[in-house]
Formats: sequence, C-alpha cells, structure tokens
Amino acid sequence: MDSFRPTDVDLPPDSLPTEDNGNSNDDLTRRTFLQQAAMSGAVLASWNDLSRAQSLGAEPRDLGQVTLVRLRLKVNGKEHDLQLDPRVTLLDAVREHLGLTGSKKGCDHGQCGACTVLVNGRRINSCLTLALACSGDDVMTIEGLAKGEELHPLQQAFIERDAFQCGFCTSGQICSGVGLLSEGHARTEAEIRELMSGNLCRCGAYLNIVGAIRDVQTGKPENQLAPERTE
Ligand code: FES
Ligand code: FES
Repeated sequence: MDSFRPTDVDLPPDSLPTEDNGNSNDDLTRRTFLQQAAMSGAVLASWNDLSRAQSLGAEPRDLGQVTLVRLRLKVNGKEHDLQLDPRVTLLDAVREHLGLTGSKKGCDHGQCGACTVLVNGRRINSCLTLALACSGDDVMTIEGLAKGEELHPLQQAFIERDAFQCGFCTSGQICSGVGLLSEGHARTEAEIRELMSGNLCRCGAYLNIVGAIRDVQTGKPENQLAPERTE
C-alpha cells in the first residue's frame, strides 16, 4: 500500500493564507487551503488508527453476525433460561430481558453505582459485568429484597429517614448498603461513607442514606419491621 504523507497534498502556489483585504478571491483561497489541510489531517488520523490497530494484531470483524449463547440466570431466586448476545451486560439482561427495571442505568461506565446488584451476596456494578459471567450465580436485584409485603429493613430505613429525592440512585444505594452491612467492615459513619463512595446521589441525600444504613447497623427497633399502615 502506498504510504500517505503530508507532502502528497499539492497546494496551489496561491493557496497560502493571506491578510484579509476584503478581496473575495482571497477568502476563497483561504477556505480552499483550510479544507485541504482538514482533509489531509483526517486521512492522517485514519491512517494512524489503522496502523495502530494492525500493530496490535486486530483483525476487521463482521459485527453484523452474532452467535447467541444459552445461559441460565438465577435472579431473585428464580431460574431463567436465556439466549443472549455474549456481550450483553447483567444490567441489560435484567432490565431488557427479564423486565426488572429497578436497577438503573446511570452512566453505564461503572462510575455512579445506580446499577448495583448483589451477586452471591457481593455488590457489583451490573453495567460492567457480562450476564454470561453470572451463569449459575445467585443474582439479587432490588426487586428481590422484600419478602412479600414486608420490606427489607434497609428499604424501611430509607423510608423512615427520607433518604431519597428523585429516587434514581436509590435501588443501587440500597443494594450497595445491604452488601456493605453483610461485609461487616464499616463500624462508623465515616467508614460507611467511605465504603458507599461508589454510589453517587445527584440529589445529595447522603446524610440520610448514611443515617439509614447506620440505623439498620445499630439495630434500631423501629427499623427492623415495616410499621403497620393506617389510612
Ligand atoms: Fe453502572 Fe453507573 S450505570 S455504575
Ligand atoms: Fe436523586 Fe439520589 S435521590 S440521585
């Protein structure tokens, strides 16, 4: 393949930029120069990308042909047989294929924690985890925390503490809080804050989120059971 070099761009002798003197021919010449410079830059960028990819051994792939894989996913105690593109994340599998939309897609890059679920009791970012990698695991989403009408103590504590505003981060915060409590590493509010730092709340409800986790951790009786509701 012929190599492309900047000097291969032949510029007309009068194409260099000149001082603006109100002459429309000069404007045209400057525009032509800039267009040619932009084109040569784009070609060079593409050539550099291709060279880098080839040096890394990458081969062009036909992404139009995808082989679906079968997997068995256990979510909230229920087994599901699925056929998925192997690139599907756990988050997309539960939201798009199982209709469990409690887990939220905030950033889709592992930075906000809105997608937090529990896998074998460990909290993970489901947007960064392939569904295929969870085959045979025990996945718990926010929908699986309550026992029938009885909320999980941390869900109840979030209500008691008013630990949310828009609620977008809340399912991730609660799943993460449940994971944190079972880990047993956080003993103070500062440690709770530190170990919950992967879960962002744009509404800034952190004070009450930490308070709710602390309530469950210290076993406040009023947070252990859902109170009876009266109309
Ligand atoms: Fe997964 Fe933000 S959506 S971390
Ligand atoms: Fe709105 Fe946390 S309650 S982002």
